[in-house]
Amino acid sequence: MSFNYAPAPESRGNLSIKPRYGHFIGGKFVAGSKHFPTINPATEEVLSQIALAGKADVDAAVQAARKAYTSTWSKMSGKERGKYLFRIARLLQERSREFAVLETLDNGKPIRESRDVDVPLAAAHFFYHAGWADKLEFAGLGTSTKPYGVAGQIIPWNFPLLMLAWKIAPALAAGNTVVLKPAESTSLTALLFGELCQQAQLPAGVVNIITGDGSTGAHIVNHPGIDKIAFTGSTEVGKIIARAVAPTSKSVTLELGGKAANIIFEDAAIDEAIEGIVNGIFFNQGHVCCAGSRLILQENIADEVLFKLKDRMAKIRVGDPMDKNTDLGAINSKEQLLKIGELTASGDAQGAQRWSAPCELPTKGFWFAPTIFTGVTDSHRIAREEIFGPVLSVLTFRTPQEAIDKANNTPFGLSAGVWSQKGSRILWASQGLRAGVIWANTFNKFDPTSPFGGYKESGWGREGGRHGLSAYLKGIGHG
Ligand code: NAI
Ligand code: MG
Repeated sequence: MSFNYAPAPESRGNLSIKPRYGHFIGGKFVAGSKHFPTINPATEEVLSQIALAGKADVDAAVQAARKAYTSTWSKMSGKERGKYLFRIARLLQERSREFAVLETLDNGKPIRESRDVDVPLAAAHFFYHAGWADKLEFAGLGTSTKPYGVAGQIIPWNFPLLMLAWKIAPALAAGNTVVLKPAESTSLTALLFGELCQQAQLPAGVVNIITGDGSTGAHIVNHPGIDKIAFTGSTEVGKIIARAVAPTSKSVTLELGGKAANIIFEDAAIDEAIEGIVNGIFFNQGHVCCAGSRLILQENIADEVLFKLKDRMAKIRVGDPMDKNTDLGAINSKEQLLKIGELTASGDAQGAQRWSAPCELPTKGFWFAPTIFTGVTDSHRIAREEIFGPVLSVLTFRTPQEAIDKANNTPFGLSAGVWSQKGSRILWASQGLRAGVIWANTFNKFDPTSPFGGYKESGWGREGGRHGLSAYLKGIGHG
């Protein structure tokens, strides 16, 4: 039997997008000089013009942040800082629909995810860190913790508002002020957050949002007035940043790429594992640093799992991100679609077998059908490089040790998943896996209390929990 779903579009009403934006510096929006368009990747509609910050704009933002740090924020008690963070958290909840709709339009992710994951988790990060602001001496990090001063924060396009929250909430709780740059294709929710800071009457200059591209990011990284850099994005840019700050006194945290193994043992609950595999790689179009992009299957259950997985993938609804029934939205940019195309073509060329779910893709915008490759070996590019799209590489194993060896055979080490009904096997596997986060019988679950970060080329430091807080406090942070 086939079910046809009637369209269930979320409304754009009550959302006002300005035709062009400036930078949010010193509590005010200031005009930019050059601009570039930001589009809805599901339709290619131009949503607005975003300002491209040059050296002078970055300098103005750093000065505003320094002034706010010395004159206001560093003098304020933790209890007072906490009040502002609570206020921001509550305003995010109150305006959640507006943020969710704007995020979906600018990023291409399904409204179901921006509404139920991104925005509630962003508010949760502010609530959690609001609670720490007046209790830093009880965090087990020493009794005389000190903030760094001005933090420069550079974030990617896959979770624009959520990554902003991961960066700004701990920085402010610890007593730092910030200069944050969103990614060039997804600046709108960060700019709306600037408006929310005004609404919360946050002292001017505590949060500064400047928009731009990699050149703007480089100005932030190299600015002498910045004490700490926090970056989430590609390993390639992470390496550039690590080199740039090495000869300076700047502290740095880097949250980079991943190529996570999702290991299914023969005794796993298969139907639950299928849901976990789908959530692991098709959540957020696979634009997830900790995505379960390598499925590592015990050989004797491989046929059954792949049969059920294909059946489930055929039911994934791909299309209009604003439709409340959509599971898989648009690829964030043309560049990212080209990258996915190039890497999957290498999968074909190197001898892996491609299967894509049958689905009708919209004619406008950037789309990629949910896809799996079987017959993948460790040396294939699709087993080694981050595809950052809805593409799963499937490998098999015979013995438990072989599963661990394959899982660890990667330059990354951000996350992993283990599926088994046996607790002892899960604990054994977790001890052998070199990954910062390991999920057991689930995948892609996030909580502000839980530290997140990786080994090897996946980055330096942790975000979230007490560990993440320590990265914004002098003497005990990383780097
Ligand atoms: P990217 O690393 O270039 O961009 C991330 C952020 O860094 C953006 O705000 C960008 O403007 C900024 N940036 C770029 N060059 C910079 C520089 N030299 N100095 C300072 N800041 C700079 O990532 P991109 O090009 O958007 O994506 C490329 C690949 O990176 C993706 O295909 C994916 O594999 C990976 N990626 C991983 C992410 C993660 O969460 N780990 C997030 C985004 C991308
Ligand atoms: Mg956009």
